[in-house]
Amino acid sequence: MRKIIHEAHGDAVTVLTVVQGDDAPTSVGAGEALVRVKFAPIHQGDLLGIAGSTAFGTNPPNIPQGGRIPGFEGVGWIEKLGADTDGFEVGDRVAFFPANGTWRDSLVVPASSLVRVPPEIEDEVAAQMLINTATAMIILRTGHNAVPSDKLEDVTVVQTGAASAVGRLVTRLLLLGGVRPIRIVRSVSSAEKLKAELPDVAVVATQAPDFREDLETAIGGRDVFVGVDGVGGPAFEELSRVVAEGGTIVNYGSLGGEGTDIRLIVPRSQKIVGITVGTWGALDEETRRSDIQTALKLAADFPQDFPVGGIYTPDRIEEAMAASTSATRTGTVLLDFRSN
Ligand SMILES: NC(=O)c1ccc[n+]([C@@H]2O[C@H](COP(=O)([O-])OP(=O)(O)OC[C@H]3O[C@@H](n4cnc5c(N)ncnc54)[C@H](OP(=O)(O)O)[C@@H]3O)[C@@H](O)[C@H]2O)c1
Repeated sequence: MRKIIHEAHGDAVTVLTVVQGDDAPTSVGAGEALVRVKFAPIHQGDLLGIAGSTAFGTNPPNIPQGGRIPGFEGVGWIEKLGADTDGFEVGDRVAFFPANGTWRDSLVVPASSLVRVPPEIEDEVAAQMLINTATAMIILRTGHNAVPSDKLEDVTVVQTGAASAVGRLVTRLLLLGGVRPIRIVRSVSSAEKLKAELPDVAVVATQAPDFREDLETAIGGRDVFVGVDGVGGPAFEELSRVVAEGGTIVNYGSLGGEGTDIRLIVPRSQKIVGITVGTWGALDEETRRSDIQTALKLAADFPQDFPVGGIYTPDRIEEAMAASTSATRTGTVLLDFRSN
């Protein structure tokens, strides 16, 4: 069995290696399934975990003897089922999340983490549909709860990191919920790309010469009670400037990698709420089921919102990591475990 491991925390381009072992799982317990992986995505969160960044968790993820295998979701098929796994059959094509260490040929996952994938959803989309949709749904719920109850009619949300995988889904879900998104990206070329995809949605580029004016024009004097931030640093600060007094900034990421000046929020009585998909597994079953249905709907109806930024077999792990950290990448990079 091939597995991608790291034995120390650090830069993913340098610390990861591919190991060929004879330790493929063969047995499953009650409520478990053995899945053969086809594709596993490389998410930003995976890179943060490999690096042992505080953006991943207060303590870096534990590295067991023999190395830690990253990856929390993927797509594949069921090879073996334990008892109490009603509703699934061997051979079913399934997406899985939360799953621990998906960057390998096969693994055992709880049946409660399996989602059967309907034929209309491509493997490349199914592989990355759960984590980011769950994240986007947590962001939306948090944002919704932050809008004053008498202002829920005509809502405008400004979002940074709008070209990111999570950012795209946030935009889509806002649109489906009848909310007006205003998207902030870095470059003018990125703004043009997003504009071509969704011409009716305002996009502004922080690198444009008149960024602040462009943003004010897009907002058009409306109250912005919620900002959604996946970047931090100067992008957060720009968001804080346009979010209403007493408004809320929902932060889910730090793509910019820079520290954030929170002094801006004090005179404006704003709130910052951090959210993590790490809490999703503990949500009530009805909410989780509903989020999975949302992921399946987005994947089926809007596969363009799950772009692929490259597909690499495990032996090309260095290239895969270079691609997933490239400044010019669009889309999620996938690890391809289909061939042996
Ligand atoms: N809280 C959670 O549970 C959770 C879950 C999933 C992801 N995340 C976090 O959410 C963030 C987005 O993840 P993702 O997978 O959606 O990202 P992604 O798809 O990898 O994002 C790529 C985009 O980010 C923008 N970007 C890259 N570097 C940037 C920088 N230095 N400053 C500003 N923008 C930059 C670029 O857009 P431009 O076109 O604008 O250049 C690029 O197109 C990450 O911080 C990730 O760790 C958090």
